[in-house]
Amino acid sequence: MTFNTKTLVLAATVMAAPTITNAQSGETTYKQYCVSCHGSGVLNAPKLGDKAKWAPLIAEGQVILTAHGYVGVRGMPAKGGGPNLSVEGFAESLVYMVNNSGGKWTSPNPTTVAAINKEIEARKVGLNKSK
Ligand code: HEC
Repeated sequence: MTFNTKTLVLAATVMAAPTITNAQSGETTYKQYCVSCHGSGVLNAPKLGDKAKWAPLIAEGQVILTAHGYVGVRGMPAKGGGPNLSVEGFAESLVYMVNNSGGKWTSPNPTTVAAINKEIEARKVGLNKSK
């Protein structure tokens, strides 16, 4: 088989394709929504790359942390301030932040997404009760 530029470009495109079907990458979503606070630490948001701040959060685990972030907590707005951001999209941007802050997470598989959704519902009920 002969390699020409076209073959290589095609190969690179296939390799760059995300493994799960999302509208955009976690990095893109991070840059669109999260960076405005998590880039500089607005309102004491844990900064991208601040391993000491992220370590205890990462220790909560992907399901819990993703769900609680998605629902919102104190200065952290629900859905990271992206009203149309899906659970999957939010989760991807969090994977990006975590992996740049000392963690090693992967894109949530359907089982993990289902667990996140369950925790989101539980969290909402809990928050309503405490009001
Ligand atoms: C308007 C500012 C703002 C934006 C935008 C924002 N965050 Fe946050 N985020 C915060 C603040 C402030 C905290 C710290 C909340 C606290 O602990 O008081 C936080 C905390 C978090 C936490 C930890 C939650 C916990 O359980 O302690 C996660 C996870 C998170 N953000 C994810 C994201 C993601 C993902 C995005 C983008 C999709 C995003 N944030 C966008 C301000 C923001």
